[in-house]
Amino acid sequence: MPEIAFVNDVFMPLSEARVSVEDRGFQFGDGIYELLRVYAGVPFHLSDHLGRLEQSAQAIGIPLPYTRDRWAAMIAEAVSRSGFADAKVYIQVTRGVAPRDHIPAGPMAPTVVVTVRAMVPPAAGLYAAGADVVTVPDLRWARCNIKSVGLLANVLAKQQARDAGAVEALFVRDGYVLEGATSNVMTVRKRCLVTPPEGPLLLPGVTRRVVLGLAQAAGVTVKEQPVAEDELHASEEVFLTGTTIEVLPVARVNGRPIGAGAPGPVTKLLMARFREARG
Ligand code: PDD
Repeated sequence: MPEIAFVNDVFMPLSEARVSVEDRGFQFGDGIYELLRVYAGVPFHLSDHLGRLEQSAQAIGIPLPYTRDRWAAMIAEAVSRSGFADAKVYIQVTRGVAPRDHIPAGPMAPTVVVTVRAMVPPAAGLYAAGADVVTVPDLRWARCNIKSVGLLANVLAKQQARDAGAVEALFVRDGYVLEGATSNVMTVRKRCLVTPPEGPLLLPGVTRRVVLGLAQAAGVTVKEQPVAEDELHASEEVFLTGTTIEVLPVARVNGRPIGAGAPGPVTKLLMARFREARG
């Protein structure tokens, strides 16, 4: 079954997809992206992802060339051409192609790339045992709510995690934990779910919002408030949320066990509720 790409209005096999070396995404990281999951042929929370794409584009002044209906139809066609029932859809929009200059000389036509690949979820054993994560200083910029393709600090943090035998790095700024390199973070204390509030220093995760709704529906008290690094370590449970990982329990932070060092009851409840919700 083919991995599919859509580049500026044309569908093609992913292996044939090309953009110019003068694309500003390549030259400057001047673009934004989204990543969403398809479960059994159906995109998960597509309108939330398209809404965030619109917010990111607006924040950096890139005019999106398509309406929501057009995005939805194009994504449906790309998924159908791929034949993958369980897929990940990557959307990237850059300011476009121009000779390299920080300020482009004339009006720009955005570059749109969408790819569809099969989704291989993380191993089941990771969910059963819980993940190792590390904390790292947050070296990113101050507009982390924009889903920018400029991900160097995230890439370096993720490498640091891998080198430490961990699966995720949690960014800490001024003593507060904000989010992971590719995930949001949630903590549990006294059956109360506490997660850092939305704002410029973290991505408003689609999975985060879904999980907070599921928690409230299950009678778990939710508090969106800052989480100090020592509160993280003292939590009874910690878990991550994200499009690729769904709800992933954390067993250890910097090698120190969280709670019993295994998935706790609130995390297990929300893992189960999330799996029901996504079908
Ligand atoms: N990243 N925070 C950051 C920095 C992220 O990169 C992501 C997701 C999230 C979780 O957001 P969501 O629930 O909407 O996936 C939080 C994607 C998966 C990526 O970069 O591949």
